This record gives sequence, C-alpha cells and structure tokens, in this order.
Amino acid sequence: MTENGFPKGFLWGGAVAAHQLEGAWQEGGKGVSIADVMTAGSNGVERKITDGVVAGENYPNHEAIDFYHRYKDDIKLFAEMGFKSFRTSIAWTRIFPNGDDQKANEAGLSFYDDLFDECLKYGIEPVVTLSHFEMPFHLVKEYNGFANRKTIDFYLRFAKTVFKRYKNKVRYWMTFNEIDNQSDFNNQFLMATNSGILLTDPESNERNMYQAAHYELVASALAVKEGKKINPDFKIGAMINYTPIYPASSDPADILLAQKAAQKRNWFSDVQAWGEYPKAIESYIERKGFRPDITAEDRVVLKEGTVDYIGFSYYQSATVSAKKNDADNISDPAEVIVKNPDLKESQWGWPIDPSGLRLGLNTLTDRYHLPLFIVENGLGAKDDLTDDKKIHDQYRIDYLKAHLQAVKKAIELDGVDLIGYTSWGCIDLVSAGTGQMSKRYGFIYVDKNDDGSGSLNRYKKDSFYWYQKVIQTNGAEL
Ligand code: BG6
Repeated sequence: MTENGFPKGFLWGGAVAAHQLEGAWQEGGKGVSIADVMTAGSNGVERKITDGVVAGENYPNHEAIDFYHRYKDDIKLFAEMGFKSFRTSIAWTRIFPNGDDQKANEAGLSFYDDLFDECLKYGIEPVVTLSHFEMPFHLVKEYNGFANRKTIDFYLRFAKTVFKRYKNKVRYWMTFNEIDNQSDFNNQFLMATNSGILLTDPESNERNMYQAAHYELVASALAVKEGKKINPDFKIGAMINYTPIYPASSDPADILLAQKAAQKRNWFSDVQAWGEYPKAIESYIERKGFRPDITAEDRVVLKEGTVDYIGFSYYQSATVSAKKNDADNISDPAEVIVKNPDLKESQWGWPIDPSGLRLGLNTLTDRYHLPLFIVENGLGAKDDLTDDKKIHDQYRIDYLKAHLQAVKKAIELDGVDLIGYTSWGCIDLVSAGTGQMSKRYGFIYVDKNDDGSGSLNRYKKDSFYWYQKVIQTNGAEL
C-alpha cells in the first residue's frame, strides 16, 4: 500500500554511529576502540591512526557531541521531527572493552537499554548496526583484526550478547557498516575501520583484504543464523556503501572497465545475499594466487546465513576511465576514478547525483530481489550560525529533496520495495572520514568547532522544519 509514493509505515528517520556522537570514551567501563586513536584531519588531509592514545594529539571522537549524556534531549528533538526510526550502532567497546573479554560489561549494556527505551517511548524504532568502525583497539593490536579467524568468535560473542539483551527492543539489525569500503584496500583508514587491519606492506594489502573480508562475511552469516535463533522476527541486513560506477564515455573499453570495477565492490553483498561468491571474484582470486582460507564449512555457513534486506548508504556516484587502467588489470576500483564533468560536487569534492540513487534502488532490486533500506544519505556542508541562532541551510534541503524525489520515482514507477530512509548525521557529529565537526550533515546544529571548542548547545536548522513536514505528509510534500 503506498500513500503519496511512500509505503504506509515507511521508516522515516535519521542515522548516526556511536563513535561519532556519544563521546564519553572512558565512561561506564568503555574500552579503547579504533575510533579513539584516530586524530582530527581536515578537508583533503587524512586522519592519523596513532599507536594507542598519545598525549597532545586531538582525538575528536573522545568527546564528540556528548550524546552519551544528552541523548534524552536529542531524542526528544528527533521525536519532534516525527522520526519513526533511529539508526545507531552499539559501541563494541562499551560491551566488551577489549574485545576478547569473557564477560560483558553491564554498564554498557544498561546504557543501550536506556537509549532504546527512550526511543520506544516516542514510537521510534531503533535500527542497529553491530559494527560501525568501532573495533576494540586491543583486537587490532593483538590479533590484527579480521585478518585473524579468531576475531569471528569475538564478534559473534558480542553479537549474541546484544541480540539476547535487546531481543524485545530492536528488530532491525545490520552486521557490518559499509563492508564493501575495503575494496579500496590501499586506504589505511578504510582498512582499519572496516577490518581492524593496520597496513604494513603494500604488496600484501590486497591479499589480506580478501582474507579479512572472508572472515567478516562468515562472521556476518553466523550472526544472522544465531540472531534468528534468538528471535525469529529479527530482520538482519547487509550494509554497503552503494556507489554506482559509470563509464567515462561510450567507448566499450570504459564500459567493460565500469563493469569490472563494480564487480570489485559488489561481491561483498553478493555473498551476503546469495550465500556464495560470484564467479568473477572466485576466478580473480585464483588468477592472483591469493588462496585465502575458505573452508567447505564456511561455504555452508554463508549459505545458511543470508541477509533479510540490503541496507545501504548513498552519497555519490563514481566515474571510471580506461585511460587510467584497463578492465583486465585493475584491482582497486578507486585507482580508475575520474572527475565527472556532468555533476556538481559538494564542498568536500563528492559528486552530487540524485539519479544515481534511483539507479541504485533499481540495480539492487534486480540483483537481490530483497527489500532495501536507505540507511544513510546526506550532504556534508559548512553551516553558519546567525547571531539570532538560526541556520539557513537551503542547500541541504535542496540536496535531500532531489534525492527523495528520485526515491519516490523508484517506488512509484519502478516498484522498488523500500523499508525506510534514515538521513545521515541527523544531528551534527564528527565526520568519520576527516574527523571534522565543520563537515555537517544534521537537521540539528551542534555548537562545536573543529578545535574542540564550543558550548555543545543544539539549534534547529531550517532543514529541521522541512524534514518534519516531509515526515508529517509521508513524503507528499518534499
Ligand atoms: C559513511 C559512514 O561512509 O559516510 C559514516 O558510514 C560517515 O560513518 C558517512 O560519517 C559520511 O562520511 P564523512 O566522511 O563525511 O563523515
């Protein structure tokens, strides 16, 4: 049943990740996560990952926006906008501070009990990511993250603990945030946040990625299997960073390259949805002689633990050119990306492409025949707080409106089955990629600057009222 294009009961809402807003990095028995050792970068300057917490460095996630102490007020604002859902993650290190602990930390568990209760009080459905760039740093240092098979067990212990604890409060889960980011295997930030691997030798980065990704996919499938035993009504999804890949021209060399580059990103969710590796990747791994540890038992697990839906983020498309490398020789899709002259870019250089979202909704539907959930979408932009404490962010409204119009067409004209839409960073938070506060996504402004100064006061932006109307009319008024 659709109403104004959007289905009845559509899960309108917002999305965040624990490490980007909670702060309180040492409270309630929390351990150090990979996000706690990432310094602040800036536009075009990467964040450093330090060897533990080093005195004198600026770690923006340590305080973030102090959601840990202010969540009641913030959720009240989400309720005022009319949210039907709120996507967050459970910080792994609040529950298992080191990752390999035998016993869960009760203070961490009760924090999320209270947080979910607060959401439910307003009829807001929590949507939870198990692992969103928050691996315990101890697992990174001592086990080399998911490069080690043992990490599957640590992850599963964490998953089962929270599934059991919140089985009556949370229905929608996702196993790993943007599991496909690591296709860009030479990027230290992406490898560390996805798999907990600190890159050491460029020669082995790709091989290590295929191994770690396999262990993560097994962990994901086991989590789905175990979760269903705990509550058969759970909906457990994949979560990918969906980036359509366009050929730079109509030259068949570019078109083939675009397909090959897409295969290097898509296979993660192929395994999660189909329970098996796509042929192109099996053959690639063999050709490269990687020989990852993939057992016959693993293959059974992958088949038994397929996901219920595909959650995805959408920010931008990518365009590739065979002038940079050809289809037979690329290994990392990021190496062949070129600028798309037909698209404007955000202040951080991300191409703005609403049609790419409709394309994605269609492609994923055709490929997986599963319900979809847009769990991130938004514009990172600088905002100005006026003297009378207003933020006139029409540029953000324009961005979101254009993307939601594309979504509406995908539902109305293309028949896409969409569960919901949670806009990214519904309240300003620390950027994952740059560690900046000034790269803002929120409907709610948080008075905090890149250097850590600011009152942490919250102010409603113009987009707050716009989104409130969108939800109120179930998308009739965009
Ligand atoms: C996604 C992540 O990649 O994009 C989020 O799941 C992240 O954690 C978001 O914050 C936006 O990226 P950035 O780098 O602008 O924060």
